[in-house]
Amino acid sequence: MTTIQIEQTTQPKQKPAVEQLGFGKHFTDHMCIVDYTEGQGWHDARIIPYQPLTLDPSAMVFHYGQTVFEGMKAYKTAAGDITLFRPERNFARLNASNARLCIPAMDEALALQALKELVKLDESWIPTAENTSLYIRPFIIATEPYLGVSPSKNYQFIIIMSPVGSYYAEGINPVKILVEKQYVRAVAGGTGEAKTGGNYASSLKAQELASQQGYAQTLWLDGRENEYIEEVGSMNIFFKINGTVITPALNGSILPGITRDSMIQVLQHKGIPVEERRISITEIIEAHQNGTLEESFGTGTAAVISPIGELKFGDHQYVINNGQIGEVSQLLYDTLTGIQYGKIDDPFGWRV
Ligand code: COI
Repeated sequence: MTTIQIEQTTQPKQKPAVEQLGFGKHFTDHMCIVDYTEGQGWHDARIIPYQPLTLDPSAMVFHYGQTVFEGMKAYKTAAGDITLFRPERNFARLNASNARLCIPAMDEALALQALKELVKLDESWIPTAENTSLYIRPFIIATEPYLGVSPSKNYQFIIIMSPVGSYYAEGINPVKILVEKQYVRAVAGGTGEAKTGGNYASSLKAQELASQQGYAQTLWLDGRENEYIEEVGSMNIFFKINGTVITPALNGSILPGITRDSMIQVLQHKGIPVEERRISITEIIEAHQNGTLEESFGTGTAAVISPIGELKFGDHQYVINNGQIGEVSQLLYDTLTGIQYGKIDDPFGWRV
């Protein structure tokens, strides 16, 4: 165990009312910072009052986007316990993203220790109303003041936390999705499987155009043939066709979602057929036309499940399951949130 210095705030903030929560708008009283210096490694782990950062304007993160992040949640159970959901997977993925962005590996045990200490200190910020939680955002930024294009010599690992309600205003009501034919989220050999800011920055244009047409999110196709399905918005995507649940196989340009992996394991555990494979938009349209496209939904930490009630592809609108949440979508939502909030048994050992 590393010693983490703690400086407690002397000015605790007022907490937002539950109806003001939204997503990622309010932040807790404390944050965690760990520095990295070339030659010295990660050092000076500390928890301090939540505050602005002071960075050199030439800090490399501002110019070339060398940064990675994670998203996870802490939950308060009815018994008053605090739970995390598979947090070690988030820090393993953080290091996978680090490797892709030439950021030195983070000490995963230290990251988890810091996270637990921070959550404990700001425990009173975990909201308790139905479907609320404490969203946790660990991230790393390149801080070396230098304008040359090369990996930074210095970094900061930071954790901030935000009490949240639903990610989408729709909650788990089905959303309308526009299949994106011009822009792509990621390409083979690119950074699609890393959780890095640039992937999200490059998604904004298509998202803006979809919103203008009244659609909640874009459905991303592959960057080579514009035919194979990759993700939806900032989530992984699933389809249920003729009783089998299908999600695109991880191919290097798809983010390996922890919720995605959990859904696959829950489906297997419940004996529902599930496949990870390449799936084309043509196959989806054909399944819709022959009546076998039964459900579709996005999965992610923030929203857990976001059912898809309609797909727009070209000039056609394809309504899925009468625009209602499907049986399997509801089952997966109930199972995952049941485990997360300690309402049901956790046969997978995911709760921490
Ligand atoms: C998630 O679904 O948890 C995400 O990654 C979305 C996040 C960028 C807000």
